[in-house]
Amino acid sequence: MRTPTLLIAAGLLPSLALAQTKEEAFEKTIKPMLERSCVGCHGGKDKDGKVKVKGGFRTTSLEAVVKGGKEQGAGVTWGKPMESSLYLLSKADRDDDLAMPPKKSTAKPLTPEELETLRKWIEAGK
Ligand code: HEC
Repeated sequence: MRTPTLLIAAGLLPSLALAQTKEEAFEKTIKPMLERSCVGCHGGKDKDGKVKVKGGFRTTSLEAVVKGGKEQGAGVTWGKPMESSLYLLSKADRDDDLAMPPKKSTAKPLTPEELETLRKWIEAGK
């Protein structure tokens, strides 16, 4: 495979290669960060084997992530990160009541790089 120099220059690699579909990018890039920071309260098993689905929101599949939860609207509106609760709540100020993961939890927030990857994925995935 040839090195896609332009993509590297545009800052799109290695986090999000343009050749990927949004499904592939979800599996390879997005899901792992949600598994680390979100799934403990959003669809995965906790240490006692219980499944929590806080706010009715699951981060275990692309379909569920796109759909969103009970109150904050669509998880993902393709092309519009600012209308995507998945992104908005993850990037909210840590002192904001809506911020995810909740400030009082021990879950690790997404890093600025991960947030940027998430934003690009939503923006690109029309
Ligand atoms: C420690 C548990 C916990 C973790 C970890 C967590 N959340 Fe949440 N989440 C909640 C709770 C509880 C709610 C319900 C609203 C509230 O009480 O703030 C919620 C609600 C949400 C909602 C709104 C659902 C609706 O009502 O529409 C979204 C979106 C969300 N979380 C995304 C995330 C994302 C993305 C992550 C990881 C970056 C994450 N959460 C990590 C506990 C958690």
